[in-house]
Amino acid sequence: MKIGIIGAGQIGSALSRKLSAVGHTVFLANSRGPETIRQIADETGASAVTVAEAVEDVDLVIIAVPERNVAVLSEKLFDCVSADVVIVDAGNYSPSLSEGPIVEIEGGTPESQWVSQQLGRPVVKAFNTILADSLSAKGKAAGMEGRIAIPVAGDEPRPKQIVIDLIGSIGFEGVDAGTIAESWRQQPGTPACCSDLEADDLRRALSRADKARAPELLALIFEKMGQLSPSFTGDDLVNINRSVHGL
Ligand SMILES: NC(=O)c1ccc[n+]([C@@H]2O[C@H](COP(=O)([O-])OP(=O)(O)OC[C@H]3O[C@@H](n4cnc5c(N)ncnc54)[C@H](OP(=O)(O)O)[C@@H]3O)[C@@H](O)[C@H]2O)c1
Repeated sequence: MKIGIIGAGQIGSALSRKLSAVGHTVFLANSRGPETIRQIADETGASAVTVAEAVEDVDLVIIAVPERNVAVLSEKLFDCVSADVVIVDAGNYSPSLSEGPIVEIEGGTPESQWVSQQLGRPVVKAFNTILADSLSAKGKAAGMEGRIAIPVAGDEPRPKQIVIDLIGSIGFEGVDAGTIAESWRQQPGTPACCSDLEADDLRRALSRADKARAPELLALIFEKMGQLSPSFTGDDLVNINRSVHGL
């Protein structure tokens, strides 16, 4: 596939490397222009492009920017993009004192529903639950023990299946996580997020997610993260998420 990735940071570059490695043609973009990400694009097997070029003549676009920055992507960005192009939201919302709340999300609108409203297009929610370290290092062939599962939420079967297949191609198990309305079940503060679970455990985690308690559990996760030494690893974060959710 031809895949555009908007966001060339931790998760965008990890996705770029994994997807390029299995033969996809990847176009990587950030807000500051291709010249600022030439090196990371080269290293991960992608071409550095503008945001507009990342959505042009591609099969799938992954949005891997801080969730609130979706609001500053041009509302016309997808106007000329075919409805067949799958748009994946890999983001998570982070409350910010300096930037203020996104009132809809803090009021309970699922993050990807808000993203879809900003873009004026349906999205599939995926990759938000896997840390860049796990994505980079923990892929396994289908059938192997310990293969990490990634929830995929969306309202249409076709784009969801495309993303599930894509996840399978890079060493993880895509699991159908229901609709975008249900996608809060894989947001931060739920047991499905950042716990590196196998498929059956992930399905159980999705079903026992508690929307009301997620903010409180996320605050506890942040508190424990604040106690880590500066040299913490991705596994330390996975262990915190697991322990907070009793996994
Ligand atoms: N890190 C992880 O392990 C991980 C895992 C799963 C999901 N996520 C989610 O993925 C998103 C990105 O996280 P990250 O850790 O990769 O962040 P990051 O390392 O800070 O990278 C963010 C990237 O987005 C780009 N960007 C920001 N605003 C943009 C805009 N308006 N247009 C185009 N590019 C823009 C930034 O580049 P410029 O500033 O140069 O534009 C940068 O390349 C977040 O929503 C996060 O919650 C992260």
